[in-house]
Amino acid sequence: HTNQSWGGRFSEPTDAFVAEFTASIGFDQRLYHHDIRGSIAHATMLAQVGVLKPEERDAIIDGLHAIEADIERGEIEWSVELEDIHMNIEARLTERIGPVGKKLHTGRSRNDQIATDIRLYLRDEIDTIAAELTRLRQGLIELADREAETIMPGFTHLQSAQPVTFGHHLLAWQEMIARDQQRLLDCRARVNILPLGAAALAGTSYPIDRHVTAELLGFARPAENSLDAVSDRDFAIEFTAFASLLLMHLSRMSEELVLWTSAQFNFIELPDRFCTGSSIMPQKKNPDVPELVRGKTGRVYGHLMSLLTLMKSQPLAYNKDNQEDKEPLFDTVDTVRGCLRAFADMIPAIEARHDHMREAARRGFSTATDLADYLVRRGLAFRDAHEVVGHAVAFGIEQGRDLAEMSLEELRRFSDTIGEDVFEVLTLEGSVAARNHIGGTAPDQVRASAQRARDSIRAL
Ligand code: ARG
Repeated sequence: HTNQSWGGRFSEPTDAFVAEFTASIGFDQRLYHHDIRGSIAHATMLAQVGVLKPEERDAIIDGLHAIEADIERGEIEWSVELEDIHMNIEARLTERIGPVGKKLHTGRSRNDQIATDIRLYLRDEIDTIAAELTRLRQGLIELADREAETIMPGFTHLQSAQPVTFGHHLLAWQEMIARDQQRLLDCRARVNILPLGAAALAGTSYPIDRHVTAELLGFARPAENSLDAVSDRDFAIEFTAFASLLLMHLSRMSEELVLWTSAQFNFIELPDRFCTGSSIMPQKKNPDVPELVRGKTGRVYGHLMSLLTLMKSQPLAYNKDNQEDKEPLFDTVDTVRGCLRAFADMIPAIEARHDHMREAARRGFSTATDLADYLVRRGLAFRDAHEVVGHAVAFGIEQGRDLAEMSLEELRRFSDTIGEDVFEVLTLEGSVAARNHIGGTAPDQVRASAQRARDSIRAL
């Protein structure tokens, strides 16, 4: 026999390499708090239905609290022979309180235990991440409000297209992050279901009350089917899919920040504390934080693919494969938290270079569409107006001058319907102010949209 908790039917000890190969304590020790929390709820429920005596329950709960305190003081040596966090804690409990510790596992299996632990862990992380998403959104909203009138070029194909306000651009980012937050909260509802009571796969013959356990742990309800409860990790995949979309958005924002801090754009300044220098080029100030966030997107996409592939083709119910869910999930959580913290700290500290943004918008004929719209108001068909303005732009390119820098006589060469009032629409302020409808770039619309975004955070 062996001294393993499941050693009864074995006639030789586990191979030392196999013990190490199959152990998860190296990474699932992170779940100690949630494992203990789940065990306390389980013991409480067992006492309530009469499976444990009140004094047995109390001894178990006191022992678990003491073990948690030991772990927090760093006074626990994890054992690979004990394989995982569940058996490490259980063995320690019996060491500490005697044979009554062996009663904790009544009506339970590590299969429903681990599924419960991960859901408790992930629910806490989701709440932390949701709060960080709110902090990031607030930073974007307040910066957008301050920059509601700041003119910058808007781009399509990364070519100057039409002037927009910087506040409008920032609120586009805010919309992306707001949707990510909705997705996360939607995922939370499916995480918040109790597997405990499913036992190994079929349920248990003890008179357990899963509603009690669910309530003690704050779950919305017990999982409906024991086979499903112990086996599926779709909730972790869903969280990682949320994370992939979030990182995709953060990497798009990062790309723009990197471009904008370059000397060629020079639209914004990131404070020195978010940048690093070069060991050889003394003039350098590199936007490392957005670059690194852009880079970390790849590992999160990778974790999504790992988890999808991990789950694919697994027969019901629990398989050891599922032990491989933890490292991708934990790294996704850590990466998301790190990236969000960096972004939520950095966004409010962005300094806009108003003069450079404006100058870039002025160059590049960004009010050409406004001139075409002006001609339409004067009776031209849009297609004809488009062609007229095209000729004016070609002339401007040849002359090295923007539309607003041409004289009335020069402009009238392209259409004699053009009058003195044309210069109002050729200005950048006139161009953005004219887009004055919900979703448009006009400063008034940006301020109204920022207010609605604040209200939606309050309503969360
Ligand atoms: N360490 C295991 C996991 O992460 C816990 C469940 C083990 N169950 C079992 N029957 N081997 O999935």
